[in-house]
Amino acid sequence: MNIEEKVRKTLAELGVNGAQGVESLFAELQKSAEAERAQLIARGAPNQAQAEKLGKALRDRWLARNGGLLSQVDEYWLKPAGKDLKPAVGRQFNELRRFTGELEFDRLIQALPLHKEACPPTELPLASAAVRPAPRDLTLPGLRRPLGSIHPVTRMQREIEDIFLRLGFWIESGPEIESIYYHFDALNIPESHPSRDDWDTFYVDSKTVLRAHTSPVQIRAMEKYGAPLYIIIPGKCYRHDNPDSTHSPMFHQIEGLAIDKDITFADLKGTLDFFAKMLFGEKVRTRFQPSFFPFTEPSGEVAVSCFVCDGQGCRVCKQSGWIELMGCGMVHPQVLRNGGIDPDKYCGWAFGLGVDRFAMVKHDINDIQLFFQGDVRFLEQFG
Ligand code: DAH
Repeated sequence: MNIEEKVRKTLAELGVNGAQGVESLFAELQKSAEAERAQLIARGAPNQAQAEKLGKALRDRWLARNGGLLSQVDEYWLKPAGKDLKPAVGRQFNELRRFTGELEFDRLIQALPLHKEACPPTELPLASAAVRPAPRDLTLPGLRRPLGSIHPVTRMQREIEDIFLRLGFWIESGPEIESIYYHFDALNIPESHPSRDDWDTFYVDSKTVLRAHTSPVQIRAMEKYGAPLYIIIPGKCYRHDNPDSTHSPMFHQIEGLAIDKDITFADLKGTLDFFAKMLFGEKVRTRFQPSFFPFTEPSGEVAVSCFVCDGQGCRVCKQSGWIELMGCGMVHPQVLRNGGIDPDKYCGWAFGLGVDRFAMVKHDINDIQLFFQGDVRFLEQFG
């Protein structure tokens, strides 16, 4: 059976029922991806247009949203996997996704050598006839438009995901249209909390909202997988905010959640300090200040010393020397209970951060609206 056939069968149909089988299936896919990429690069392309055509074909074969090999792995392997196999499949899938980042169009094109003819086509030796370009028809349209680049928010999200994937977390997602149970009640957010007000949250009806944060997926994941659990949850969120330079009614968050036996605040501090150093450089320091969130106790705000001015004060850190990164805390015992986890046996920590804000800080962008206006002059700067 070739890989095209394999990715259209569920793991059960393939007779895979253990982590080892999952691993070797994914290893096979990774090897194919590696071989196909190496083959393309070894062959090169006679000209830019051909390079783009070949690069796009390989990228689409693996990464196309509709029908790409990875989307089929998601559909046939990951989604229907049973509870016991899911974490292993999820981890392997994330690993494969990271690896096949090399098959993104931009990266392929960069790696693909062009064998430009040194002499005009008529003087090409006969042996090269196969690669000789057809005589130019000047009435044909010009070169193919290059594919776009990866959006700076997506890029930021992937950078953050990569750090946590390396730490053994895996990626979970949840619905953007959410019940008020998961969005508020299960997270210990009382009736009286101001975010329940229409002003902040878009209500679809009295029991349903457009999620204003990614935290509800904490509960969904606890119910689905139980403990121990190490996940990050990237996704879109919506708030009833007027668009201005720092607010957008749609924005992106990444939630983190670690649940295990004997987890302490020191694990939270250590992990987030490591994360900040990986993202902003070894030199940065982190600062934890007390805060309040209904779903964590104790709760904190994390800031990082400004990576531009080293804490001296500059435009990026608004002269304060510090950049606010995220909210975090130890998961409230009631929240664990609501997710079906016994707080006497397990404990955990969580955080929530704004991806758009991270991208703004990193690239010194002063208007969040630029991310969503689709202006190519802005977007192509991140190619
Ligand atoms: N959900 C919070 C928000 O949107 C962010 C947050 C804070 C998430 C603390 C967490 C946390 O998981 O522990 O403002």
